[in-house]
Amino acid sequence: MKTRITELFGIQHPIIQGGMHFVGYAQLAAAVSNAGGLGIITALTQRSPGALAEEIGRCREMTDKPFGVNLTFLPVVTQPDYPGYIKAIIDGGVKVVETAGNNPQKWLPALQEAGIKVIHKCTAVRHALKAEAIGCDAVSVDGFECGGHPGEDDVPNFILLPRAAEELTIPFVASGGMADGRSLVAALALGAEGMNMGTRFIATKEAPVHDNVKQAIVAASELDTRLVMRPLRNTERVLANNAVQRLLEKERSLGPALKFEDIAAEVAGVYPRIMIDGEMDAGAWSCGMVAGLIRDVPTVKELIDRIMAEAEGLIRQRLAAAVNG
Ligand SMILES: Cc1cc2nc3c(=O)[nH]c(=O)nc-3n(C[C@H](O)[C@H](O)[C@H](O)COP(=O)(O)O)c2cc1C
Repeated sequence: MKTRITELFGIQHPIIQGGMHFVGYAQLAAAVSNAGGLGIITALTQRSPGALAEEIGRCREMTDKPFGVNLTFLPVVTQPDYPGYIKAIIDGGVKVVETAGNNPQKWLPALQEAGIKVIHKCTAVRHALKAEAIGCDAVSVDGFECGGHPGEDDVPNFILLPRAAEELTIPFVASGGMADGRSLVAALALGAEGMNMGTRFIATKEAPVHDNVKQAIVAASELDTRLVMRPLRNTERVLANNAVQRLLEKERSLGPALKFEDIAAEVAGVYPRIMIDGEMDAGAWSCGMVAGLIRDVPTVKELIDRIMAEAEGLIRQRLAAAVNG
């Protein structure tokens, strides 16, 4: 399949694996890139720019295909060494960066002078337009159903994607709720030129996380996610568990007085315990509503081949038959 996204990134299939904290390691990124998509290493999971440089090197040993690095600008307790991470990305010869969380304008000149294509992930049309205006090459439009941070507008992809298509000139991918060939065809119909997946890629053989995490996604239905941290205007969609229930009770009882410190036990530094140790009630971890469509743990290549075969079948048979009578 050929779209402006496959052309821009030099990939075979219009499928991107979004940055994921404690999931987006070289192993997963390389598997996605080797299968013809665009794999992405998550910079901030690496504790230093030096560690990121090593991870980029590791990825390069596993694939000769293009891969990217995610740079997330979120409210965090201590500011990471962004200039250091950017230097590691440039020195590592990475050709694609996915930015997210905040306006990447400050970092664009350094990245683009190094020939790096920038895809900015955002949850609102106004933010996508801003990304286009400051010179981003593409955007990833993240609907309300997404795992992670859906923003505060709560607009799902059936509205958000066609709205983005009405306004944008640069290409965009659909993100949030994407799982299979149906998702890809729907995303294309709504104006996107590919799709970005997070949760679906966690439930794959190569995702370097504890098996408990994969099984939790397979077991979950579309009703099993919750929104946390809304009172702090840092909303995150997570899988329901005991810690999330505790967190939501604190949000209810403290109301507008809630501070980050009140819920730190449920959200700060919990990812290693969940993703590495498989302690499923250790805290809140991002998961999309799309868990309701995930029923197996295939290899990344099986998943991507299946998506492309299903998408092409849908276009050539079901949709073609509908218009051909
Ligand atoms: C466990 C997990 C961790 C994530 N961590 C990040 C992150 O660090 N930075 C980021 O930009 N997006 C992050 N995301 C969001 C994904 O990149 C992607 O946009 C989102 O998962 C898409 O929605 P989906 O899960 O419905 O596919 C994360 C998502 C998940 C599920």
